[in-house]
Amino acid sequence: MRILLYSGKGGVGKTSVAAATGVQLARLGQKTLVMSVDPAHSLADSFDLGGNLFHGATGEPHEVAPNLWIQEVNIQKEIKRHWNAISGYITSILRTSGLGDVEAEEMAIFPGMEELSALMYVNQYRRSNQFDVVILDCAPTAESLRFVSLPTTLDWYMKHIFSMERRLLKAIRPIANRVSPVEMPPESYFDNVQDLFGKIQGIDVVLEDGHTTSVRLVTNAEKMVLRETQRAFVYFSLHGLTVDQVVVNRLLPVEVEDEFFQTWRAQQAKVLAEIEGYFSPIPVSRVPLFRREVLGIERLGELASALYGETGNPAAVTLTERPYSFTREGDAYQVRLTMPFADKREIGLFKKNDELVIEIGTLRRHIGLPTSMSAMMPSGAKMEGNILVVDMRSV
Ligand SMILES: Nc1ncnc2c1ncn2[C@@H]1O[C@H](COP(=O)(O)OP(=O)(O)OP(=O)(O)O)[C@@H](O)[C@H]1O
Ligand SMILES: [Mg+2]
Repeated sequence: MRILLYSGKGGVGKTSVAAATGVQLARLGQKTLVMSVDPAHSLADSFDLGGNLFHGATGEPHEVAPNLWIQEVNIQKEIKRHWNAISGYITSILRTSGLGDVEAEEMAIFPGMEELSALMYVNQYRRSNQFDVVILDCAPTAESLRFVSLPTTLDWYMKHIFSMERRLLKAIRPIANRVSPVEMPPESYFDNVQDLFGKIQGIDVVLEDGHTTSVRLVTNAEKMVLRETQRAFVYFSLHGLTVDQVVVNRLLPVEVEDEFFQTWRAQQAKVLAEIEGYFSPIPVSRVPLFRREVLGIERLGELASALYGETGNPAAVTLTERPYSFTREGDAYQVRLTMPFADKREIGLFKKNDELVIEIGTLRRHIGLPTSMSAMMPSGAKMEGNILVVDMRSV
């Protein structure tokens, strides 16, 4: 099963591109599910399914065309199904603080629950092999990063905190319940956490395998949008995911000649060149601004044709290697880049703002550094096979 994850800044066209990709794959005969991971679901709207009729529905996959299903995770249903003991406990605590029942239930939906529920589905589909491709329509950047970092965070929590907490509580619960202002979590709470963890186990490996999972960044040719796209790229790379395509949406079509748009056009051309330089060798695809909103399966099909042509296969595996990774050993930080054919003598390195710039002959790569490295300077470089290893030091 292939997993395609669409992310990007708010409003750039993620849902439209994800839905159109589903339409294309279904046309090619692949059993495809487009799943909304955005709590503010708009997938059904994109397919023009008549709003309220669909929303609040089962939260199960819903067939919209031959080979094509969409799913908007219904968090209330998920809570009843998977989170009962956890949310029951949290609701009871919130109630003791004076909140009414409904508010307490509302508040007991905490950040990450939606993403975790979606991850459980992805894992389930992967195990059952129900679909050929699962497309994830993510919430704007920050939340989609939470989506990909959750498995690692939870893994850490389970290894380092969970069993200790559970053992400790077992021992002190009788006393703690007498002295603490709130009830301690019951055993069923811990069982529930363990059970949920079991349901996402293995998903981290799947997300980090470029043969299975690819991230596609959707952006517009605007400076502010590009900055966020670059940050997203750095963080997806940091989490070990492979970005294999950048989609630049809403480009002014050539037939727009109105004087009013000339500055916009020049600006878009400039940012587009910057996008290509920054993300190279990752392919950059272009989608024009259409005359109308892209709603309904027919217009989604037109967007798909603009993006992939009639036969292009969006699930093809084209890039599997992470372009770079960041590592740390003690005080030594390193940036590692795959650089086939590079000769160390030809490589130039310097720092510009929070980017590391690498020059090979006339080629230039800008690498956004994570916050932990942004104040450091390159102190040396060596080739290990075809990997360029750059040492970073604090100044
Ligand atoms: N190329 C395009 N031409 C015309 N309209 C477009 C294009 N791409 C997207 N739209 C329209 O722009 C609006 C926003 O698009 P969409 O919902 O896909 O963005 P999004 O990135 O998913 O937003 P959000 O961050 O809110 O999830 C929709 O009404 C969609 O139909
Ligand atoms: Mg959206």
